Amino acid sequence: MEAAQTWTVARLLTWTREYFEQRGLESARLCAEILLADVLGCQRIELYTRHEMAPDAEALQRYRGHVRAAAEGTPIAYLIGYKEFFSLRFKVTSAVLIPRPETELLVEKVTYLARGSERVERVLDIGTGSGCIAVALATQLPEACISASDLSPEALAIAAENAATHGVAERIEFRQGDLLGPWDGAEPFDVLVSNPPYVATRDAETLPKSVRAHEPHAALFAGEDGLDVVRRLIDGAGRLLRPGGHLLMEIAYDQGPRTRALLEAAGWHDIVGYKDLGRHERVVHARPGSTGNSQVA
Ligand SMILES: C[S@@+](CC[C@H](N)C(=O)[O-])C[C@H]1O[C@@H](n2cnc3c(N)ncnc32)[C@H](O)[C@@H]1O
Repeated sequence: MEAAQTWTVARLLTWTREYFEQRGLESARLCAEILLADVLGCQRIELYTRHEMAPDAEALQRYRGHVRAAAEGTPIAYLIGYKEFFSLRFKVTSAVLIPRPETELLVEKVTYLARGSERVERVLDIGTGSGCIAVALATQLPEACISASDLSPEALAIAAENAATHGVAERIEFRQGDLLGPWDGAEPFDVLVSNPPYVATRDAETLPKSVRAHEPHAALFAGEDGLDVVRRLIDGAGRLLRPGGHLLMEIAYDQGPRTRALLEAAGWHDIVGYKDLGRHERVVHARPGSTGNSQVA
C-alpha cells in the first residue's frame, strides 16, 4: 500500500480486494470488509456509510498487519478472533477448529429429536473444540444438561469462555480427556454428538493451505483413512448411552457408506445418513442395539 493518496475506506477496500484476488483468496471483497470493519470497530454494513472516512495511522497499521497475514493464509476468523455459528458469535484462537456451517446440521438434528417425542435431557459432545455444538445446543434446549469434553485443555478454556459469553456456563459440564474416557461411570446420556477429526492423513495435501498450516492438526486428522476416531466412537459410545439413545456424528462427504457399514458391523441400528444442502451425507445417526439396518435420508 503506497501513501501518496489518502487511504479512505473505499480506496482501502478496492486495493485490498484486488490484492487478495491476485493472491488467490476466495471472497476477496468480503474478506477485506470483515477485516476493515474489525479494525474500525464497526459492523460491515456501516462501511458503506463511511466510504470517504480516512482511518487513523494506528488503524491503518493494524489493518495492514491483518491484510498481510490473510494474504499469507491466516484464516480471517483467527485474525478477528471470532466466527459465527448457529447465529451465535464464538471466540476462536488457533487452539480450536474454526466452526463450519456444515456442523450446524448436527445441531439441527439433535434439536429436531428433542422437539419430537424423544427424551433429550442429557447430551454429551465429544471433541467440543470452541464449544460451538455444546453451546448452541444449550441455547436451543433450555431444559437439557449438556456435557462436553476435549483432549485439548486450551480448547476447553475457549469453550468455557464461549459458554460464559452466551450465558450457559452453568448448564455445561466440561471435562478434559481422551474421547469417552472422562465420562466412564457417568449417568447414561440420551444423545452423544460429535464432530470428530475425520480427515485422512493421505488427503492432507488436498486441504486448503490455510487450513493445513493454521488449524490444529489434532482437530483435523484421524489416521490413514480418517476414520480412526469414528471407529473408537462406534466401539465405545454404546456404553455411555441409555438403551434407545442416539449417536450423531459428523463425517467427511465421502465417508457415509463406510461409516454406516462400521455401525452395522458393530450392532448399531436405525442407522441413517443425513445430507447437507450440498447433497453430501455429512451426519450419521444410529441407536445402540443388535440388528443392523441402514439408509440415507
Ligand atoms: C473437528 S474438531 C471439532 C470441534 C468442534 N466440536 C466443532 O464442531 O467445531 C475435533 C475436536 O476433537 C478434539 N479431539 C481430537 N482427538 C480427541 C480425543 N482423542 N479425545 C478428545 N478430543 C479429541 C480436538 O481437539 C478438536 O477440538
